[in-house]
Amino acid sequence: MIRFRPMEEADVDRVFANELRSYAYPWTRGNFLDCLRERKDCRVAEVNGEIVGHGVLGVAAGEGHILNVCIARDQQGHGYGRALLEDLLDRARSAGAEIVFLEVRPSNRVAIELYESAGFNAIGLRRNYYPAPFGHEDAQIMAIDMRSELSAGTV
Ligand SMILES: CC(C)(COP(=O)(O)OP(=O)(O)OC[C@H]1O[C@@H](n2cnc3c(N)ncnc32)[C@H](O)[C@@H]1OP(=O)(O)O)[C@@H](O)C(=O)NCCC(=O)NCCS
Repeated sequence: MIRFRPMEEADVDRVFANELRSYAYPWTRGNFLDCLRERKDCRVAEVNGEIVGHGVLGVAAGEGHILNVCIARDQQGHGYGRALLEDLLDRARSAGAEIVFLEVRPSNRVAIELYESAGFNAIGLRRNYYPAPFGHEDAQIMAIDMRSELSAGTV
């Protein structure tokens, strides 16, 4: 059974350990601490009391931005990523977001499949946004219209 709660500073070591194992270019510990201090909506997902994932959301002026969605490498493929995304979208909706954006590497097919099946659409590219082994990789910008009942219902 997965449950979600706000991330606390005491969680950051565990969250950072999961982050390091799950991304080729992870956030730093400081990035998480900054998000907590900036009062971003930082969430952890727990299964049997263990932190299996984390997500970070910012909402301002009716716009949400999902800044991080991560499931620990050894916990992937069990539906936790979808549940975490659903939690973040619920939080965005409650905070008044009418639209939610995120960025993803075009090479990250697993994440793109997840976002598309949740109702996100590709709306543009940010050129040379991410570091990559040989230079940089574009970011695909995706968005979901929270006012559309169809989108909300498909998550
Ligand atoms: C992307 C990520 C969050 C998905 O989490 P997850 O728990 O593994 O995903 P789920 O088990 O909830 O699966 C959700 C959907 O992802 C897609 N998916 C999952 N595993 C997949 C795979 N091996 N191949 C293709 N698609 C896959 C499917 O669409 C799946 O839906 P389905 O099970 O109904 O077919 C996770 O893989 C992760 O943390 N990756 C590293 C960090 C990252 O890339 N984050 C996204 C940055 S934008």
